[in-house]
Amino acid sequence: MSLFAKKSLEHLLAQANDDEKGLKRTLGAGNLVALGIGAIIGAGLFVRTAAAAGQAAGPAVTLSFVVAAIGCAFAGLCYAEFAAMIPIAGSAYAYSYVTMGELIAWVIGWALIMEYALGAATVSIAWSEYLSKLCEDVFHFKIPYEWCHSPFESFTDANGVLHSGILNAPALVILFLLTLLLIKGTQESALVNAVIVFVKVAIVLVFIAVGWQFINPANHTPYLIPEGTAPVKDNAGKVIAEYTGVFKHGWGGVIGGAAIVFFAFIGFDAVSTAAQEAKNPKRDMPIGILGSLVVCTILYILFGHVLTGVANWKEFADPAQGREASVAYAISKYMTGFGWLSKAVTIAILAGFSSVILVMLMGQSRIFYTMSNDGLIPKAFGELHPKYKTPYKANWILFVFVGLFAAFVPGHVAGDLTSFGTLLAFVLVSAGVWIMRVTAPNIERPFKTPMVPLVSTLGVIICAGMIFALDNFTLKVAFGWMALGLVVYFGYSRSRSKLRNPSEILPHAKDFN
Ligand code: ALA
Repeated sequence: MSLFAKKSLEHLLAQANDDEKGLKRTLGAGNLVALGIGAIIGAGLFVRTAAAAGQAAGPAVTLSFVVAAIGCAFAGLCYAEFAAMIPIAGSAYAYSYVTMGELIAWVIGWALIMEYALGAATVSIAWSEYLSKLCEDVFHFKIPYEWCHSPFESFTDANGVLHSGILNAPALVILFLLTLLLIKGTQESALVNAVIVFVKVAIVLVFIAVGWQFINPANHTPYLIPEGTAPVKDNAGKVIAEYTGVFKHGWGGVIGGAAIVFFAFIGFDAVSTAAQEAKNPKRDMPIGILGSLVVCTILYILFGHVLTGVANWKEFADPAQGREASVAYAISKYMTGFGWLSKAVTIAILAGFSSVILVMLMGQSRIFYTMSNDGLIPKAFGELHPKYKTPYKANWILFVFVGLFAAFVPGHVAGDLTSFGTLLAFVLVSAGVWIMRVTAPNIERPFKTPMVPLVSTLGVIICAGMIFALDNFTLKVAFGWMALGLVVYFGYSRSRSKLRNPSEILPHAKDFN
């Protein structure tokens, strides 16, 4: 059987209908937009806005948001078509199994591990940053630098003492707690999600409204990082950010910044997984996906404008200043009289991050579950807990894997790898829509991406462009990860694939708890 053996769409739809038995079409457009915003707003906004400003875009991080949003909109339209056509757990992995065959599906499944597992790691590291800040501000207790940073991070304090990270313990703790929650089978109800969304959006709006009065126009001039900008150094004189590369200043920096803040948009694809529960997917999927994108893009641009107006973008490059917990830093340093806001922001951010981590861990376990049912990864990943009916073994394995990254890898490295994995999925989903239009033109499509192949091609080009704007180190690690994936595929998965061994009976669980 060829490397590009495909699952038949009929088989997949039958499987989807079997799995999805009992699901009710209860979600309206408003619920879907709330679902999207719930999964979208997190560390990307509260942490990476400042990182993009400090490392590549300066105040023009607002334009970086626009570029990233355009790429997401094209990919989002393509997701909407697939989500309405093939409503099954497994998302981009499942779509590509039908359109481009097993090898590409494997590649995408392997890349999705970067999106969801490393996404969870990144947000848990951000959670740790904000917890440290909260302990300091409210309880006047400092978590030692060594125990809330990876061994690859160090910092020289004002007394010239060098601190090196050992492991990021708070990140491990939140991952552990959320893993327990997931195994227990507790689901976020629409109400809980709505409450979290309300709190997150309220905090963002309050920050924008209050912060607007503290904008110092000098911080916005020049708007792009000028060529020849001197590097930022830490207390020990070590260079920690420089602005010489193409994607590190000027308009190139806007693209570089887009690749960094792209992380802030990850999660809108979660809307596509609810396709089966949408009351009117044809109308509501595009509203849910694009509506949550539009709302978030507007909030992000305003937020970036205020943040880089309140504090200078260079401060966000410096670990001794606003590189960590940047929002709380900007409020406490410049927004006099609003110390309470800094604390409120921190608590709301911690709650918001927790829901993003939870959704990411859940998404990853669903993808593992589907890949395991296809025989491409060991059976353990697909085994359900006898009582709670959750894929508990997958959850524990995931905890170990994600925990290793969270404990020992710096947040920006995990975040950039997350963006890589997601962008690759977006490229393949965009390409898949076109391929499917050509190879299976007559299948019922409740929602059709407009202007294919223009929209799908632009989705491929913009998302691929953002991949290449990621830094070299990220690309090397990502390609290393993808190469490892191929070794696993040819060494293990290919010979065990159920598609190649159709005699095996799929031990298919009916549903999760
Ligand atoms: N978009 C999500 C976040 O920013 C992943 O945390």
